[in-house]
Amino acid sequence: MTTVLYVQELCASYGARRILEGVNLQVRAGEIVTVIGHNGAGKSTLLRAIFNLVPWRSGKIELLGHDVTRLNSDRLLGAGMAYVPQHRSVFPRLTIEENLQMGGYLVSDRQLLAERIERVLGLFPILKSRSGQMAGSMSGGEQRMLEIARTLLQDPQLIMLDEPSIGLAPRMVDAVFDNVQLLRSEGKAILMVEQNVKKALSISDRGCVMELGAIHMQGQAGELIGNEQVARLYLGKR
Ligand SMILES: Nc1ncnc2c1ncn2[C@@H]1O[C@H](COP(=O)(O)OP(=O)(O)O)[C@@H](O)[C@H]1O
Ligand SMILES: [Mg+2]
Repeated sequence: MTTVLYVQELCASYGARRILEGVNLQVRAGEIVTVIGHNGAGKSTLLRAIFNLVPWRSGKIELLGHDVTRLNSDRLLGAGMAYVPQHRSVFPRLTIEENLQMGGYLVSDRQLLAERIERVLGLFPILKSRSGQMAGSMSGGEQRMLEIARTLLQDPQLIMLDEPSIGLAPRMVDAVFDNVQLLRSEGKAILMVEQNVKKALSISDRGCVMELGAIHMQGQAGELIGNEQVARLYLGKR
């Protein structure tokens, strides 16, 4: 399968403080790769650094074989990279439909945007039936779905999700993960950060364990679930 994201020796700092220490990873089309690790390990910084949102970084980032290291976030979005941050990012006082319109702000062809919104609403029935409702009045899980749906308006090849299940009721976690799997079946490459390790790995193809800003271990998701050290440190087993 095509390599969509290729990250080589990525380092990142906030001021004098080095956070990422030379991260290497790849995500292919139709693949979910999940990054796990303790709080403060640098998982969010990894996604932010890939999306060029940290003050300093070094290394190389390729998207679909093109060097995109120097592109800013807007250009990355236009080039096919999408990012959903850990903290809520819907516009609460706009409707679902208006939020989707905003997500497609780089699409200048109005007809194409309308078609994409129709298509995305088809993928997310929960949003379709309530497209006129204020986003801020939806549940946390529904807002998460809207955030994910909104990224699709740019037709991205890579979707990065920072803790999509955080703070959601178990039923909504399943619904969000179902959507993530649906995106994979459409051939998207997905790079996800998750604290809900077991569930996330169970839908993933591969996993990476991050410690102190470096990838400490990586492998097939099934192997990681079965790994004694991963089970002890991240699945709460003794
Ligand atoms: N904007 C920032 N300025 C300075 N330090 C930060 C900033 N964001 C995160 N950090 C620090 O970087 C480290 C990694 O944070 P983060 O990437 O959020 O970890 P994780 O997502 O794995 O919990 C933490 O020690 C955190 O305190
Ligand atoms: Mg984080």
